[in-house]
Amino acid sequence: MPPPALYNPTMAGAAILGLGACLPERVMENEEWTRWVDTSDQWIRERTGIERRRICGPDESSADLAEAAARAALADADCPIEEIDEIVVATDTPEADCPDTAAFLQHRLGARPVPTFDLAGSGCAGFLQALDLCCSRLATGRRRVLLIGVEAISRQMDWTCRDTCVLFGDAAAAVVLGRPQPNRPEVLAVTAGTDGSRAPILGRMIGGNRIPFSAEVLKQEHWSAVVMKGREVFKEAVTRMAEAGRAALELAGLSLDQVDLFVPHQANLRIIEATGKALGLPLDRVFVNVQEYGNTGSASVPLALWEARQAGRIPPGGIVLMTAFGAGFHWAGAVARF
Ligand SMILES: CC(C)(COP(=O)(O)OP(=O)(O)OC[C@H]1O[C@@H](n2cnc3c(N)ncnc32)[C@H](O)[C@@H]1OP(=O)(O)O)[C@@H](O)C(=O)NCCC(=O)NCCS
Repeated sequence: MPPPALYNPTMAGAAILGLGACLPERVMENEEWTRWVDTSDQWIRERTGIERRRICGPDESSADLAEAAARAALADADCPIEEIDEIVVATDTPEADCPDTAAFLQHRLGARPVPTFDLAGSGCAGFLQALDLCCSRLATGRRRVLLIGVEAISRQMDWTCRDTCVLFGDAAAAVVLGRPQPNRPEVLAVTAGTDGSRAPILGRMIGGNRIPFSAEVLKQEHWSAVVMKGREVFKEAVTRMAEAGRAALELAGLSLDQVDLFVPHQANLRIIEATGKALGLPLDRVFVNVQEYGNTGSASVPLALWEARQAGRIPPGGIVLMTAFGAGFHWAGAVARF
């Protein structure tokens, strides 16, 4: 039996027609953070497993990364942009406050005047939540949907707050989805859930109506700071990602023994290991790239999926379990057969 309130099961599948990613060129090693905050390479490695991350260049922004990832996924799918019926962008660091990043992408990619929108506010769970939504859209008429997870977090975080700044990195990754078809990788099940009672312990509370941007707010020392109670977030992330993983597998009619590769959200190596342990999955069946990129928010799961496939870690027909957790709290799990 799945745990109660799980959650809004989507049995409508989706073919994964193509994957792509974009990483900024600039690599920032842990050591470089010592110029900004009182930290060390050793502390960051031991507590998080992160060794380096990518950081946007001065002229790079969310739409740039997202566009490049989208083009790579479209090429991988051999799908002309004209065939895309909808564009969805999962991000909490959009190109502009309004309009959404998806509108910029519609124009830049030369898409037809199709519906496009951003899914924002669910932090690192954004991509899998959006995948849940995209599966439903495909079940109700769309033929091809382009889904992109992107974050240019370095632009919006507080570079003087050591509790959070060392954790994140910039990236984008994209997937072209279609209706299920034989011999194509397929999303078999998605689950997603929310516990809004925990909203105040992870997020970025300024910029909305409660605390709008104002000259006064901008003068405050840590005005852009991410609010995060690290230990509470840690525990909840492990519990919810394990729970969502089990629920998605149950929905797909599969067991943990059948999982060839577990691709969790890449926030912290210790969270990844603890979640793998909670699921009883040995580390050789867990994909980890947090050491290279840090926490890339909504880009994290698709980036890991893309890299796992590039690295040959997914056998033909292999079952991949994905889970994510983020602000809200929101969480999600998905199962795909490659
Ligand atoms: C943030 C996190 C790495 C901290 O690790 P931790 O083992 O829980 O560490 P603690 O919070 O106990 O902090 C230990 C000490 O390190 C200090 N510290 C925090 N950041 C530091 C840094 N970058 N460098 C050096 N010291 C640091 C703290 O101030 C604290 O000092 P104190 O003991 O003197 O008060 C960990 O809690 C975590 O990963 N949480 C989840 C975060 C996350 O995934 N967020 C995104 C959600 S998707």
